[in-house]
Amino acid sequence: MLASERDQLKAEIIKMAKKHDQHRSGLIPVLQHVQNVSRHISPEAMQDIAEAFKIHPVEVQGVVSFYSFLSTEKKGKFIVRLCRTISCDMAGKEAVANQLENELDIEFGETTDDGMFTLEFTNCLGMCDQGPAMLVNEDIYAKVTPEKVADIIDSYRNRFGAHVTQGEHA
Ligand code: FES
Repeated sequence: MLASERDQLKAEIIKMAKKHDQHRSGLIPVLQHVQNVSRHISPEAMQDIAEAFKIHPVEVQGVVSFYSFLSTEKKGKFIVRLCRTISCDMAGKEAVANQLENELDIEFGETTDDGMFTLEFTNCLGMCDQGPAMLVNEDIYAKVTPEKVADIIDSYRNRFGAHVTQGEHA
């Protein structure tokens, strides 16, 4: 992150903390904002947040490590979350998982080198009768098959003009 970007993010953190009267209830919205902007919570951001809320950085770190949607590791622009709970598992989640790994040339828990995609498993998304279910950021996909994986991934690549450099398909 450039120094100017960090300054801008710090200013946003301070502004959001003030809006919440530096109350701890504002911590999650601020952390979510930082996660969205930077795709992770850096040690510097934790420091800035702690200062803005007048709390110890360890407290911020504790919150970050508690919530799975917050991460200290940089994630992709698009986080692909495949449901691994029993209904989706029985509906063919494993084949979809394998195809996602082939398509992106990474394993679950990893991020593509171009920073576009992260693959993760998640628990039930409430679409159990329409499994396998999958989320790409906020977009939900039901009845996903291995055959649909390439089109779904391509739609995100195309949306942001990303080059198909990995897992190319015909
Ligand atoms: S088990 Fe996958 S959405 Fe419920």
